[in-house]
Amino acid sequence: MTLPDAPCLTHEDALAMLAWQVEMGVTCPIGDEPINRYEAAPPPPMAGMGTTSNIRPVSMARAMPEVEKAAPDIARIMADRADTLCALRKAMDSFDHCALKKGARNLVFADGNPTARVMIVGEGPGRDEDVQGKPFVGRAGQMLDRMFAAIGLSREKDGADALYITNVVPWRPPQNRDPEPDEIAMMLPFLQRHIALADPDILVPMGNIACQALLGRKGITRLRGKWVEVQGRLTLPMLHPAFVLRDPIRKRDCWTDLLTLKARLP
Ligand code: URA
Repeated sequence: MTLPDAPCLTHEDALAMLAWQVEMGVTCPIGDEPINRYEAAPPPPMAGMGTTSNIRPVSMARAMPEVEKAAPDIARIMADRADTLCALRKAMDSFDHCALKKGARNLVFADGNPTARVMIVGEGPGRDEDVQGKPFVGRAGQMLDRMFAAIGLSREKDGADALYITNVVPWRPPQNRDPEPDEIAMMLPFLQRHIALADPDILVPMGNIACQALLGRKGITRLRGKWVEVQGRLTLPMLHPAFVLRDPIRKRDCWTDLLTLKARLP
């Protein structure tokens, strides 16, 4: 008897299966150790089928890219289920589909005051941030603190003077390279949920990576200092402090943008 081939797993099938697993509380559908399915012993024949069955098991080697394609959808499901910042942090910590996580020491979630009216979005952790598990604690972070202190805002303050800080990706990219577009896309649902939960009045994406993620546009030297809307919020793109450290003449632009921001605060 000739049996038909096992059906191909489509993107939608894989997503439905993964959504079901997430619903059941599974947060890591892929094991830590890779398995080469081509080298693995073939599965034992099913009872009564002998060894000549035409049934092919749905190959994991074929299914894995489907899982990778579904990673942003898995992230969206996990992010949307988080109804507090604490739950979001846990969800991100248990998200195993972003390769950056494997090379990082710590999840860098956020710093500052989550009730702040102003939320800064940077690019991703560097070495110091990876070690401390906090965003913007290295040289660029000190620059950022000085910039915002100039208009009276600080991550240590409360009320109208508070600042809240996060990044597009929460794990340090190797050798401080830029996060790849697929890494940004995969982590974007978490960032969007982070913004929704923190609910700031004003967003400040700093640098090209944050503008690409939130505005879908690059060209920070043209975007900076001009108000746009992101997720229904006033948004003021600014230069990244690391860029200003490399090109100090840019401090002038920063100051102009800080005054533009200040003018919108009470
Ligand atoms: N640069 C960033 O964009 N984020 C950090 O957390 C540190 C440096």
